[in-house]
Amino acid sequence: MRRKLIAPSILSADFACLQTQVDQVARAGADLLHVDVMDGVFVPNITMGPAVVATLARTTSLPLDVHLMITDPDRYLAAFAEAGAAYLTVHAEATAHLYRTLENIHRLGLKAGVALNPATGLQTLEWVWDRVDLVLIMTVEPGFGGQEFIAGMLPKIRAARARLDQVSSSALLEVDGGINARTAGLACEAGADVLVAGSAIFGAGDAAAAVRAIRAAMTGTSPAGT
Ligand code: DX5
Ligand code: ZN
Repeated sequence: MRRKLIAPSILSADFACLQTQVDQVARAGADLLHVDVMDGVFVPNITMGPAVVATLARTTSLPLDVHLMITDPDRYLAAFAEAGAAYLTVHAEATAHLYRTLENIHRLGLKAGVALNPATGLQTLEWVWDRVDLVLIMTVEPGFGGQEFIAGMLPKIRAARARLDQVSSSALLEVDGGINARTAGLACEAGADVLVAGSAIFGAGDAAAAVRAIRAAMTGTSPAGT
């Protein structure tokens, strides 16, 4: 079985002690660090940009999984690449020329991801399955942390898993939104490889324990140290 990965989202972290929190989740076994970039246009919220990504790249060895919730993302791909992103994921709904956007990300030497809003169908990816390194299924409407997991997305996760297997793709299937120790198991059973969790990790009193609880739910074991 493929290894399942955890990507804590710093959206819900305490920015006053960001490095401490990142170190905590890294030590607890996080695999990637998820960075939610919002422009106030594609989504009704504004968060962080390349400067924060560059700071993270200097202070953690976790690969940076940058989720671009911005309109016309091509304008900023080079800036995020230079800042040290490992994965750049764009929304299919935010770019008019997805094929070219994916090429641009690859040309910068990065892994390319495509995110799909809950109402966007998998057929959007029909002619780019062979050029995605990551497919991100949103299980909330993007824009804010702390929303409830949309269980109706489970069949979409299963369908994406089936399609990736059918085309023999090694792309990661990532699920983002409302992931906690309960929903993590559901998403993994449906075929997710990477789970993003923000509020369930950084909103909890003990971020490291929360990472371990989600890890346990992903593997169907009981959390270490309990
Ligand atoms: C939402 C973001 C998510 C967010 C998840 O637009 O893409 O990554 O941080 O937060 P939770 O885990 O709280 O749903
Ligand atoms: Zn995200």
